[in-house]
Amino acid sequence: MTAQLINGKEISQQRLQLVAQQVAERQAAGKRAPCLAVILVGNDPASAVYVRNKKLACEKVGFKSLSYELSEDTAQDKLLSLIDELNTNADVDGILVQLPLPKQIDSQTVLERIVPDKDVDGFHPYNVGRLAVKMPLMRPCTPKGVMTLLESYGIDVVGKKAVVVGASNIVGRPQTLELLLARATVTVCHSKTQNLAEEVGSADIVVVGVGIPNFVKGAWIKPGAVVIDVGINRLEDGRLCGDVEFDAAKERAAMITPVPGGVGPMTIATLLENTLQAAELHDSKN
Ligand code: GUN
Repeated sequence: MTAQLINGKEISQQRLQLVAQQVAERQAAGKRAPCLAVILVGNDPASAVYVRNKKLACEKVGFKSLSYELSEDTAQDKLLSLIDELNTNADVDGILVQLPLPKQIDSQTVLERIVPDKDVDGFHPYNVGRLAVKMPLMRPCTPKGVMTLLESYGIDVVGKKAVVVGASNIVGRPQTLELLLARATVTVCHSKTQNLAEEVGSADIVVVGVGIPNFVKGAWIKPGAVVIDVGINRLEDGRLCGDVEFDAAKERAAMITPVPGGVGPMTIATLLENTLQAAELHDSKN
């Protein structure tokens, strides 16, 4: 049987429409449009595309966006000063520093400089810690977007066996916390995991974020499982592909996300939801 496709593009558009509605309601109530500051350092072509898409999405829902493009050789102190300025700028609700950063800059130092209330990526240790103790404030966009997709498709995770492949700070670790918060039984696999095929094969829900094309084989998937592919890899011929061997996996899974059009658009929609949340938080404190 061929799996049902989980259409992240469609769900993300619905979510963006809801955000746009709330922006209009805020404006009708005399409140400002939410404002997101986006910082891109260097020339990574994939990052440039992601940042452009984030700015376009802001326009679409009626947010204000501020854009900072810094050169590849930017000193860390310069970036930290810009963040300090944005932290205290009352017109700015959310601050996003696109990753990866050039090698002279320590990303953790940079992410920790953003005030937690404006940390719309949810990467500050304060926000990661809040998620870990079941009191989330700003939740990392991709894992939260995955939970929105599961919920939108009526996929019950309570008591289900979920396997997360990849333990990165952006995807795997927060995804594990999200699934745990939703009361799944969660296993995290990483580069030292033994019997990966067996672990994946035991999962009712598999979430993969490793950044390696076709890393998870279709034959590993338990028949009837839900497969969420977070990977977006560009092949030599220019096509995009995920971290899961899609054609083979879709013959075993009950539901699967495509790449593109699966998790990717959800990350952006969730970023805008977080920015709206940050704006509301900001208003409530002033
Ligand atoms: N690089 C890859 N994914 C992300 C993300 O979700 N946020 C940021 N800031 N950078 C990224």
